[in-house]
Amino acid sequence: MAGHIGLGRGLVAVLSLVACLSCAAAGGRSGGGEARQRLEVRRHLKRLNKTPVKSITSPDGDIIDCVHVSHQPAFDHPFLKNHTIQMRPTFHPEGLFDENKVTSQRKSPSIAQLWHQNGRCPEDTIPIRRTSRDDVLRASSVKRYGRKKHRSTPNPLSVDPDLLNESGHQHAIAYVEGDKYYGAKATINVWQPRTQQPNEFSLSQLWILGGSFGEDLNSIEAGWQVSPDLYGDNNTRLFTYWTSDAYQATGCYNLLCSGFIQINNAIAMGASIYPISNYDGSQYDINILVWKDPKEGNWWMQFGNGYVLGYWPSFLFSYLADSASMIEWGGEVVNSEPDGEHTSTEMGSGHFPEEGFSKASYFRNIQIVDGSNNLRAPKGIGAFTEQSNCYDVQNGNNGEWGQYFYYGGPGRNSNCP
Ligand SMILES: *[C@@H]1O[C@H](CO)[C@@H](O)[C@H](O)[C@H]1NC(C)=O
Ligand SMILES: *[C@@H]1O[C@H](CO)[C@@H](O)[C@H](O)[C@H]1NC(C)=O
Ligand SMILES: *[C@@H]1O[C@H](CO)[C@@H](O)[C@H](O)[C@H]1NC(C)=O
Repeated sequence: MAGHIGLGRGLVAVLSLVACLSCAAAGGRSGGGEARQRLEVRRHLKRLNKTPVKSITSPDGDIIDCVHVSHQPAFDHPFLKNHTIQMRPTFHPEGLFDENKVTSQRKSPSIAQLWHQNGRCPEDTIPIRRTSRDDVLRASSVKRYGRKKHRSTPNPLSVDPDLLNESGHQHAIAYVEGDKYYGAKATINVWQPRTQQPNEFSLSQLWILGGSFGEDLNSIEAGWQVSPDLYGDNNTRLFTYWTSDAYQATGCYNLLCSGFIQINNAIAMGASIYPISNYDGSQYDINILVWKDPKEGNWWMQFGNGYVLGYWPSFLFSYLADSASMIEWGGEVVNSEPDGEHTSTEMGSGHFPEEGFSKASYFRNIQIVDGSNNLRAPKGIGAFTEQSNCYDVQNGNNGEWGQYFYYGGPGRNSNCP
């Protein structure tokens, strides 16, 4: 079936497209180049968008396809041809701050996805945000669609400060390193930060990292993001990312390449989160837990109160096939320096940490999974930001929120020109 072209062949086709686009740009057969691009886009969409059992139109314009669990993009991967889907993890870590144990008045109402207003996916299917032609055309090339443009993982340990500012990505994060980690958890306040330019984004996530910050970095990432380039709007969306070679040839957002195996029929990767927190008003947050199954070695992800979404098979990774060496939590924006000034793209709520609850964005109850598969408060947590006058981070600790931090900022302001 054409929809099941293997990864290898797909890449070859895409590479030839890139080559031809450059020849068209150089004044070559531009008509042929356009036709060829149309064909490549169509083929790419056919690879990504599997035949649905049912489709749901979300109020934000997304189409959510309910695809049979065994027809999802993961199974285009040659290594997954004979894979038996794990329908549940063999092990689930437990810790201090399980939401059903939190009795505080600040307990958040349950948070969902916008498309739920118009329907649900049946059993044995998974909801997949349908990729449109426009989504692909916004990318610089078919090959780059769904992939990060730059290496952007913050490296707070870098000895070369110049490198930190190199990519135009800015961060305000908390982190731990120096041990073996088997997972991480956080409750993340959800906002809709403003981005100044369509090619900028603002996100809040956790990073599970293995290897050095060289060419071999392994990373599993999950959180929320506003990314006009990726989604065509300014909505706040649930996302994941993975790479096993520092964002070069492997990995992607969400289900936009074969890798993550989803088992859950309620939550769609890349779909809008609803509702969102208001400044000085109602606050909403999401729970994210990523952990390594000690028996099968797969990395599982859970969202909210017990939505086990699925897993990244262990074989996708090198270092993370064993354990993570660093965990980071926090915000990231792209600063494209429009008009030679710092961007006004916001991080978190767009307000500095000093403003505190209901005004600044937070991560609370941040935990790591240790070698005994227990969730614990991280020891020796550090904080890092490139320019605290633009975006800042402040750690704290108390009984109810455990380890937490407020982070974010407005970007351009009188102290951040
Ligand atoms: C899948 O199973 C078939 C038939 O048993 C076998 O020939 C093939 O090598 C297997 N593929 C992988 C990737 O394990
Ligand atoms: C997204 O936000 C930018 C400015 O922040 C605005 O110019 C643009 O119209 C918005 N796009 C949509 C689809 O709402
Ligand atoms: C990044 O660049 C800004 C502006 O040039 C500078 O103020 C800041 O100190 C740099 N940060 C680091 C960590 O080098």
